[in-house]
Amino acid sequence: ETVDWDAEETGKGEFDHYMLKEITEQPTSIAQTIEGRYDPRRGSVSFDACEPETFADIDRVVLAACGTSYHAALYGAIVLRRAGVDADAILANEFGVSAPPIDDRTLVVAVTQSGETADTLGALRAASRAGATTLAVTNVIGSSAAREADEQLFIRAGPEIGVAATKTFSSQAIVLTLLADRIATASTGSSSLPIDDICADVDRLPSLVETLLNGSAAESVARRYRGERAFFFIGRGLGYPVALEGALKFKEITYEHAEGFAAGELKHGPLALVTPETPVVAIFTGTEDEKTLKNAEEAATRGAPIVAVCPGGHDAVSLADAHLSIPDVHPMLSGLLATVQLQLVSYHAANLLDREIDKPRNLAKSVTVE
Ligand code: G6P
Repeated sequence: ETVDWDAEETGKGEFDHYMLKEITEQPTSIAQTIEGRYDPRRGSVSFDACEPETFADIDRVVLAACGTSYHAALYGAIVLRRAGVDADAILANEFGVSAPPIDDRTLVVAVTQSGETADTLGALRAASRAGATTLAVTNVIGSSAAREADEQLFIRAGPEIGVAATKTFSSQAIVLTLLADRIATASTGSSSLPIDDICADVDRLPSLVETLLNGSAAESVARRYRGERAFFFIGRGLGYPVALEGALKFKEITYEHAEGFAAGELKHGPLALVTPETPVVAIFTGTEDEKTLKNAEEAATRGAPIVAVCPGGHDAVSLADAHLSIPDVHPMLSGLLATVQLQLVSYHAANLLDREIDKPRNLAKSVTVE
């Protein structure tokens, strides 16, 4: 049997699991993703692909994806809307039955790590038939999505072996954030994103992730709440897809019940599930944090242990029973750092339960059937 990638890249090295190796690799994978794609001094985005003319006539963007890539797509859609572009993320497997109107002024972005997910390829093909311009945001050069789309942007995260996606999420979200500025500028003439500030912080991301990894309390948090009944993740704005991704990761590899909710939605139903046996992980990304704090308080009042994911010194730290610290960074990027902490919590929780972390039951790295 032969392997395509070289042994150094695909071996587990000092790690017990590929998943931990891939989480820990993020300072490097992020550095690869951003290399040459922005100028931190001029505060501008410069892609090697996707010339601005590609987007000149676009008046709406639809992102289609599944699983973790769908959460990156939700993240990208929020950034696009903040940049002033009409944008939506849709599950690729819902595309055929509930996509928004698609025509030759629509850009459909297929977000897919593998480039081989059947549902996502189905959406891509339907978009082409409807006359849309198509773009694949993928990790795999030569994949079906890369070959079939009109345009390609590679996330350059390097090979990901663990079934649960980790480093590819951060790379996808960064590429989509930079892309949002490019699309807004090309299609509307201007972007409402503070791109100089974002680029300055994109430049710091690899070292910030390194800092986070070195001081993470994720293992002790996982140990402390081991055996609880269910785990809820709440966030708003960019913290909402991060909450969904935190819950997906947790259920995928621990097999425990985990759900992600928009923080403000907790009181409209999910609060009925909250008890002293349901830790609530609250994600603070620097947007309307006071409201998210109120939502966390509502859960704390019902006895739920609160795990705050936020910078040190944040108001949430004193309310919370446990704290997962993220470095201070532009609110457009803090969700990425929060995701790294949530990946670590899931990893350690699954490890304590002795789960098959790299190959969870019933799941496949790439699902090639609809
Ligand atoms: C599978 C994997 C997920 C992944 C999803 C989409 O379900 O288990 O981890 O997020 O496919 O994969 P893609 O390659 O399209 O990003």
